[in-house]
Amino acid sequence: MNTVATQADVNRAPVLRLIGNTPLVPLRFEPEGVTVYAKCEFLNPSGSIKDRFAQCVILDAERRGKLRPDSVILECTSGNTGIALAMVGTARGYRVTILMSAGASIERQYLLRRLGAEVILLAEGDSYQAGIARSRAMAAQDPRYFLPRQFENPLNAEDHRHTTGPEILRQAPGPIAAFVAGYGTGGSLSGCGSAIKARFPAARVVAMEPAEDEDHAVECHCCTCIEGVADKGFVPPLLRHAPLDATVKVTADDAMQCTRRLHRQFGLLVGTSSGANVAAALHVARELPRDAVVVTLLCDRAERYFSTPLFAEGMDEHGVA
Ligand SMILES: Cc1ncc(COP(=O)(O)O)c(C=O)c1O
Repeated sequence: MNTVATQADVNRAPVLRLIGNTPLVPLRFEPEGVTVYAKCEFLNPSGSIKDRFAQCVILDAERRGKLRPDSVILECTSGNTGIALAMVGTARGYRVTILMSAGASIERQYLLRRLGAEVILLAEGDSYQAGIARSRAMAAQDPRYFLPRQFENPLNAEDHRHTTGPEILRQAPGPIAAFVAGYGTGGSLSGCGSAIKARFPAARVVAMEPAEDEDHAVECHCCTCIEGVADKGFVPPLLRHAPLDATVKVTADDAMQCTRRLHRQFGLLVGTSSGANVAAALHVARELPRDAVVVTLLCDRAERYFSTPLFAEGMDEHGVA
């Protein structure tokens, strides 16, 4: 794997310099009396942890000669991965096409189009699997298409093992007692978890999972009320060999309450999965000694959720939730 951006890469696409090396900040929770260390992935330039995968998969494909000037990066995703691929792709000079559900939020469509991506909306009622099948059929017919395949691509977890995990190890104030995170593809939980376990074998790697079953579980494995996080029962391939010790369930209500607390109490404008991660991390921290170092991820920004229940519920006439 050779996916570290060189000076030449950065000169050609300066935005790459802004990816990764995000801060790890201590959040002191009262009245719980516990501290959780939060890795601020929402500070990546397109606004989410997915910038890392986008950079890694595109640089790797370039190094292996899989991307040429006329290539088109094609992925079926309604989430942060599409925006990250559009950002890195446009900065490297490639066309990007994103297949997404017609129900995906308009904020995401605006961002994708502004980054120059072509957006193909799936027909109403078409499942996520249908979108994946369509992307594969398009790639089979036209060799210009390059598919990052975030759910199966081992680079996804490997990159977190080589970048995000070691950053956390450098930044943590002492031995890590627990790492807690949700999973969509499982890349970040598996990669960071492996890096942390390799250094601190006694560290507990804990998966945050949504507590509720979702009606649309068969539609898309990655679009529960806690967006970006896999539906109950779905084990992504990248997580199958991850060093997991436990799971903590978080309801959508608790996730949203904790997210609003991050907004109001800490001034951290993050999305719902970040609140869910912190709620789970608080649960784990309460069962450990007071000074135990518990680390979690703040995955993306609040602006991506204006049209979701995170902002819709309980807004007053000034739009304050
Ligand atoms: C908002 C958000 N949270 C969490 C995750 C989970 O990350 P991973 O795919 O590394 O499991 C994602 C993934 O897309 C996400 O977009």
